[in-house]
Amino acid sequence: MLRSFFVSLSRVSWAQRTITSWGVARRASARFVAGETVADAIQAVRALNSQGVRASLDHLGENTLNPADAQAATAEILAVLDEIENAGVQSNVSLKLSQIGLNLGEETCHANLLQILEKARSLGIFIRVDMEESTMTAKTIGMVFRMAQNGFSNVGIVIQAYLRRSERDIQELLSLPVRVRLCKGAYQEPPEVAFPSKSEVDANYDKLARLLIVGASAQHTPPASDDGRTPPFPAIATHDPRRIQFALQTIEELKLPKNAVEFQMLYGIRRDLQQKLVGLGFPVRVYVPYGTHWFPYFMRRLGERPANIWFFASNYFRN
Ligand code: FDA
Repeated sequence: MLRSFFVSLSRVSWAQRTITSWGVARRASARFVAGETVADAIQAVRALNSQGVRASLDHLGENTLNPADAQAATAEILAVLDEIENAGVQSNVSLKLSQIGLNLGEETCHANLLQILEKARSLGIFIRVDMEESTMTAKTIGMVFRMAQNGFSNVGIVIQAYLRRSERDIQELLSLPVRVRLCKGAYQEPPEVAFPSKSEVDANYDKLARLLIVGASAQHTPPASDDGRTPPFPAIATHDPRRIQFALQTIEELKLPKNAVEFQMLYGIRRDLQQKLVGLGFPVRVYVPYGTHWFPYFMRRLGERPANIWFFASNYFRN
């Protein structure tokens, strides 16, 4: 209910105009968003790196409506790659295909992604393609497959455990193989395509995490890179301690080295758990979003947890 309300609100333009004009909303979003400029984001990455945590920078943006905006989003991502290189930080980049033109046509998106992957490859930086609504899943996987088959090993994808199709997708991705970040899924989906209950999503998460870790280990896929820019094939992206515990047990059972799997979390969430995993010697990466288009991302974070509404409200009443 809560999620469906906030995911729907994230697409309403008057709500976006109204809420983003509130200073209190901007201040509350700062818990989840590293700032509006790339300089803010690099500062956040440096702070994470100093605590042993790697990063994935995301210049916020999605559902771009015209080719000029898709081009501008691409230019911004190309500039971020230079910033990572110049700053020498342990970070890679996450992006959304709808941000660089997937809704405007496959070839527009392909041309933009190609520029990004070529530049990232020349700098030794990995690019993670986020997963959006289920109407885009097949197109997103298709685009990443196309790039991987054309020789780009610096591109990976996200798979959502709430989707019924995900087991098949992981098997296919392992066959190339393409690096996978496994998350639960943040959008509102109908029961035909996604498991409706939390317990089913959690059970599927464990099943897919195991499939991914066992599959990657059987293929002797490379571990996380020492420069902090390239993740290993399986990335366990969740703040759920039970899911993390299950993955840790699987790693132990298979006697894998610690850098064979990476744990990933979102900026501003469960810093205690991030530090605990760093302390245990595992690679940990935090997704660091920044930019002015923070509204849909912020709405999805609010919808994930009722306590976040109180956090927002308390900011409101404090002002
Ligand atoms: P769950 O929702 O069960 O939460 C477990 C615990 O985590 C909660 O009890 C709470 O302590 C904490 N928590 C979770 N969300 C919180 C919040 N918003 N605020 C405060 N605490 C919170 N989704 C997607 O559809 N496509 C994608 O590409 C990505 N990419 C991505 C990258 C990374 C690195 C992460 C960690 C997550 C994503 N996601 C995503 C989001 C993901 O699908 C999911 O919505 C959130 O991670 C919340 O689910 P949890 O796995 O944390 O579990």
